[in-house]
Formats: sequence, C-alpha cells, structure tokens
Amino acid sequence: MRRVAPSILAADFGRLREQAQMLVDAGATVLHVDIMDGHFVPPLTMGPSHCEALRGLGAHLDVHLMVERPERHVEAFAAAGAGTIIVHVEATPHVHYALNAVRQTGCRPALALNPGTPADAVREVSGDVDQVLCMTVDPGWGGQAFIPASLDKLRRLRTLLPDHVDLEVDGGIDEETAGPCADAGATLFVAGTAIFAEADPPAAFARISAAAGVGAPAAEWS
Ligand code: DX5
Ligand code: ZN
Repeated sequence: MRRVAPSILAADFGRLREQAQMLVDAGATVLHVDIMDGHFVPPLTMGPSHCEALRGLGAHLDVHLMVERPERHVEAFAAAGAGTIIVHVEATPHVHYALNAVRQTGCRPALALNPGTPADAVREVSGDVDQVLCMTVDPGWGGQAFIPASLDKLRRLRTLLPDHVDLEVDGGIDEETAGPCADAGATLFVAGTAIFAEADPPAAFARISAAAGVGAPAAEWS
C-alpha cells in the first residue's frame, strides 16, 4: 500500500488546521509532522501541542522526532494524538528501548536513518519496527534537493526489512522523484514544499500520488 503524506512543516502555520483539512479533503490519510529540537538539528519547530491541533481531522499523524533522546518524549506525543512515532537511530544510544516504548503506547514504531547512516543500522531492530524512514535529504529543513544515492540505499533497505514494514522517504519528494523511489521500494512518500508551495496544493498532492503509483484509498492505520 502506497501513501503520500503531506508535511505540514511547509504549510502556513497561521492556518495550520485549515491547510491540513484541505489535504485530508483531497484524500490524504496521513499527515507528516516534523518535530525539531534545536540540538539534533539546528531549527526549532513544533511540539505536542501542534499534534493536538491536528488531531480529529481523520488523518493518521506520522510524527517525525528530530530530537535528541526521543525516548523521553514518546508518551507526550502519543498522548497528543500521534499515530506513528519516528525516532532517529543517530539520536539515542537506546534505539531498541525507544522503539519498544513507542510500541507500548499503542503507536506504530518507526526508525529514521540520516543520509550518512548505513542501511545496515536497521538490521538488529528490523523485528521491532512497523516503518523505516530513509532520509532523502539531511534533516532540518524543507525545500532541499533529493539526494540521488538514496535510490540505491532504498533498494538495500527493502531487502533488509520484512515485507510488512513500510519504507518511507522524506526530503525532496516531488513529481519527478516519487516514481523512482516507488520503484526502489518506498511505500510512504513525504512531500512538503512540492505540495504547500504550489498554488493548488490538492492538485499537487494528486500529481505526486499518481507519480508514486498510489492506488485505491488506503486502509486506515489504527
Ligand atoms: C526535513 C523534514 C521533512 C521536510 C520535507 O528535515 O524531515 O519532512 O518537511 O520537506 P520537503 O518536501 O520540502 O523536502
Ligand atoms: Zn520529516
């Protein structure tokens, strides 16, 4: 099952819920929420209160924690309505603990890898995740160019992961890059700038969905 997840980092924060609703009305079943702490990555962005503001729209919240020691924040994001909680393998020495802490809240555990992190980093926890996020830019900012070497890494990740594990791409995803990522095994496509910087975000969402080969409306994740 393939899905496109609009990244609300690129939305107009003054109209956050309205912009998210517009994409849900256009067929988005997943919204990607980027949490940055000013340490793991330089910028500061959102926190649990922003997830609270987005709950109840009928979309699954895919919460990307670009924060140090993410295990300390799992409960707060789960309580704020997260559906999937993504932790970075580079952000804690306790990756296994963090993923299981996510599982215990009832959320889907996901592991993110920076571009410089070897695909092999998923090997020891491949049975503990529902999703792996392959960063296709360096984390921290929207609007960056897709890193072409990501395609080979995606193929290697796909061979390391059980079939049921979703493979997510994040960074520089647009009409051009979504198709090659799908061919390399990606199933969840995060797009920020390519949707919200367009004059007609729902139309951009539809074009990227078509490029990614998204089929019938997705089954809901719990
Ligand atoms: C970057 C974030 C991305 C970002 C992607 O660190 O993790 O989710 O919103 O933005 P675009 O689609 O503009 O590359
Ligand atoms: Zn992200």
